[in-house]
Amino acid sequence: VTRDIAHLSAVELYTAVPDDTVRFFEDLMAMQVVDRRGDSVYLHTWDDYERFTVKVTAQSTSGVGRTWLRAASREALAHRVAAIEAAGLGAGWSEAEPHYGPVYHFHDPDGHPYGLYWDTHRYEPTPALRPSLKNQAARYPGRGANVRRLDHVNFLASAIAPQDAFLANLLGARKSEQIMLDGGELAAVWFTVTDKSYDLVYTQDWTGTRGRLHHIAFATDTREDILRAADVFLDAGIHIETGPHKHAIQQTFFLYVWEPGGNRIELCNAGARLLLAPDHQVVTWTQAERAKGQAWGLKTIDTFHTHGTPPVLPPTVL
Ligand SMILES: [Fe+2]
Repeated sequence: VTRDIAHLSAVELYTAVPDDTVRFFEDLMAMQVVDRRGDSVYLHTWDDYERFTVKVTAQSTSGVGRTWLRAASREALAHRVAAIEAAGLGAGWSEAEPHYGPVYHFHDPDGHPYGLYWDTHRYEPTPALRPSLKNQAARYPGRGANVRRLDHVNFLASAIAPQDAFLANLLGARKSEQIMLDGGELAAVWFTVTDKSYDLVYTQDWTGTRGRLHHIAFATDTREDILRAADVFLDAGIHIETGPHKHAIQQTFFLYVWEPGGNRIELCNAGARLLLAPDHQVVTWTQAERAKGQAWGLKTIDTFHTHGTPPVLPPTVL
């Protein structure tokens, strides 16, 4: 496997209540507003070496916009662009994103927009946000959930098999785990482009809708940060959907909340777990194993299967 994709960089989220969504990321997630342009606000997590981690864009409804990936080199970028173009999923080069160099735009088979680039702009802290240690991007915020970095994006898709092929063949990602239904149909796939055990996830959208979001996840340094975040969210009036608890799949310690715009946000901590084996065997979870719930016995909450963004008719359960 050639690692042409270096890492997941940033995600654009849509919200109908942009001020509330930005406040959520700034005050409760400990991110910093680094830029405002048109209908968008750019936010940075404290250990991101690039300029932004989340782009919040005002829209009539919720959902996910573009997901950005950084290529491993200029040659890797050209290699992947050629493959994506040949598959008919390319949409050409864009210079519209001021915090990156040229970005190659494309879609996955389900219609989620992506951007792939090499040239980037590094985050430069203001004097007030300069860290003591020069190997850290920004000063340690020490507030709220104190998220360190973006961890993964979990998309909903109308069919999983085409996404599975897209990730493996066009992005060169490695599959680490999957859910296979009794009939042999894939219900969810976890892929990595790094040594983390997953970066991009696709889950079956039972409404059959295309292009929706299940959640985006941010990593904290410790499990304790997540427990404290639950108290912070409780008193801030943020909807806590499920957790804190531990996933069976991927073993991640988690908490799920809905930001004020309705998008599901996960706080996650994988401990020291990495996927180092170059010949890793994909772990397959069956329908029966799935029905057991999470690692310590918590049943999977109903809204986990019904809530996605943007909402579709029939309305999702609140
Ligand atoms: Fe997740």
